[in-house]
Parts: sequence; structure tokens; C-alpha cells
Amino acid sequence: MEPADIHPDDDHRRARTKLEAAGWRWLARGDWAHVYVSPDGALAARVCAFDPAYALHVRTCLAHSEEPHFQRIAWRADLGAGEIVVMERLEPADEARARALCDAIRGDTPPALRPLRAILEDACAEGERSLGWFGGLDVRPGNVMQDARGQLKLMDPYFVAGKELVPAMLRDVANAARHYSKAQLAAFLEIAVFEEEEHAPGPVLVELRRRVAELEAGEGR
Ligand SMILES: Nc1ncnc2c1ncn2[C@@H]1O[C@H](COP(=O)(O)OP(=O)(O)OP(=O)(O)O)[C@@H](O)[C@H]1O
Ligand SMILES: [Mg+2]
Repeated sequence: MEPADIHPDDDHRRARTKLEAAGWRWLARGDWAHVYVSPDGALAARVCAFDPAYALHVRTCLAHSEEPHFQRIAWRADLGAGEIVVMERLEPADEARARALCDAIRGDTPPALRPLRAILEDACAEGERSLGWFGGLDVRPGNVMQDARGQLKLMDPYFVAGKELVPAMLRDVANAARHYSKAQLAAFLEIAVFEEEEHAPGPVLVELRRRVAELEAGEGR
């Protein structure tokens, strides 16, 4: 299901403009992404400039589409260093059930949840191997939603510590570039949390942009 004629040479801004023009309604944002709802309300589209932890989750969902605690993904595409994911629209989860699920996954996991736990552990091992500043599992009630039938879903179960990547880039951008490409580091500065500062950047964002520009000009370090 390709919404609004979006293709991989669109960037995250263009993708959002196209969604809005096609009648998708803005729903929510996190630190990394914006989420839209389809005109008929059935689907959600999550657009980010860069979010390697979520990309890991999407790959894991697609590889384990039988797992009931993962959202159904209808379509995805790269957007430069970012990604658009069209998936089933979820609702806020019942807090007590979400907490019980998270406790069960993190604690003494009952047999029924062991396959899910194994998938999450494998994905975390891949994250540790391949992603800089990977933070591991982010299984908490705030990252659980539910579908129309009440099935709980882990919607964003891993994280990259953006709050550590920022000082790491300020300290040594060339080292950060050993973990993420120049294009990815540039795109990191366009994730949702930086957007408020897009046109009036504060001192930290100004300095981050300067470091990335140096890197792009081949003078990093
Ligand atoms: N499939 C979905 N259906 C409905 N709403 C969704 C869906 N996926 C995400 N959302 C909403 O969008 C919000 C942001 O999504 P998400 O958590 O993926 O963004 P994020 O930028 O990674 O957030 P964070 O900063 O917490 O990591 C969620 O808190 C939730 O309210
Ligand atoms: Mg997230």
C-alpha cells in the first residue's frame, strides 16, 4: 500500500507534505518521528529523518509477521537516511495490561512469551553489533499500544541513545562517523526533536551542524 505517491528519493519533509496533501491527518510525534493517520482512519504512517533503532524494529516485524505482539506493516520505503512505515493504526493500550506485559517480558518470562523474548534478544544482539550508541530494549508501558481487538503491540521496543550521541558528536565527530555515515549524521540533526530549532537553532544544534558540515567537506576531526 503506497500512500500519496511517495518514493525513495523523497526526503522526510517531502513525504510528510505528500501525506498531508493526500488527506492523511497528523496524529503524534516522538523525539524521532511524526505519525499520521490515513483518511479512512485504518492505517498509520510513521515518518522519520533517521531512526536506526526503529528500522531494526521494522526489519524484525517483517521477519516475524506471525508474532502477535508486533504491528502489521503494510508498506515501507527508505527516505534518504530515514524511513516511512505504513502500518495498522493502533490505540493507546490499557495501562495495567501493558505494564503486566512489559514486566513479563523483562522478568520471569512465561512460556507463551518466550518466543517473543527470544526475538527481542536476537534483535538487541544485532543492534549491539551494528548500531552506534545502541541503548538496548525499551520495553515499557509507554511503548505498548493495542489493536482494535485488544491485542497488545510493542510499537518501539529498542532505542539508540540520542542524548549520548549528541555529546559524542561534539567530542569527536569523526568517531561518530565510524558508526553512522555522514548522511545519517546530517539526518540525525533533522529528527523531530530538533525541528523546533530548525530555523532558529540553539548553540548545541549550531555546533552539531558545524561539525557535520566539516565532516561533509572532508575535514572532520
Ligand atoms: N501504529 C500506530 N498507530 C497509532 N499511533 C501510533 C502508531 N505508532 C506510533 N503511534 C503514535 O505516535 C507516537 C510516536 O511514535 P514513536 O514512539 O514511534 O515515535 P518516536 O519518535 O520513536 O518516539 P520516542 O521519542 O518515544 O522514541 C507514539 O507515542 C504513538 O502515540
Ligand atoms: Mg523511538
